[in-house]
Amino acid sequence: MSPSDAPPNAKPKRVAVMISGRGSNLGALISASMASGYPCRIVGVVSDNADAAGLQLAADYDIDAKVVERKDHNSREAHEDAIQTIFDDWQPDIVCLAGYMRLLSGTFVARWMGSMINIHPSLLPSFTGLDTHQRVLAHQVTLHGCSVHFVTEGMDEGPLIAQAAVPVLPNDDADRLAARVLKAEHRLYPSALRLVAEGKVRITDSGTVLFRDFPEPDESAALYSHPVEDA
Ligand code: GAR
Repeated sequence: MSPSDAPPNAKPKRVAVMISGRGSNLGALISASMASGYPCRIVGVVSDNADAAGLQLAADYDIDAKVVERKDHNSREAHEDAIQTIFDDWQPDIVCLAGYMRLLSGTFVARWMGSMINIHPSLLPSFTGLDTHQRVLAHQVTLHGCSVHFVTEGMDEGPLIAQAAVPVLPNDDADRLAARVLKAEHRLYPSALRLVAEGKVRITDSGTVLFRDFPEPDESAALYSHPVEDA
């Protein structure tokens, strides 16, 4: 079923976004959610950093935003409990990590398994972690990009939903490359979230990702993926 023939009265999925900084992917998700027919509504933003620029973006769009800093809590568990309490109030269907730079515990991850997704600036499983653009240049690889995946316990390790590739060009520096990847991120994340929200992709108990009614890959959007027919 394509977005255009989704039931007109389908209720938009409630999405909470977790950030730590700039919030440009948050901005891309907000823009997408404002388009008619997009199957999600951003119900709130949680930041673990009171100085995150993304908080202002949430305010600009009248989206509820909460700061939950790690230093205000005695343990990772207490910090995540505080976030979960906010989620209990917002009742999100899906949680999007958008530059949330903190590893989540197994308990929190298990609570949201299959409903929590993350974007990472590399073609996973290559280049997990930080400074991906610098490392890509140091390794002289010719193809770089970004990935959206279901969140599991390991860092940047969960099963892939979609990836977008960009070339590494001669004379690129980390900033130029990062800007090219970020542009792809801003297209990829709303597309991947749409797939999850429309129930077109899901993770099985064994961690396999299954697609259904997968749309033809849109080359102009540089969206690449590996659909598996649902049985
Ligand atoms: C993005 O490039 C995102 O992929 C990355 O942080 C940046 C956040 O930018 N996330 C990770 O590295 C997660 N491992 P933004 O705040 O402008 O969206």
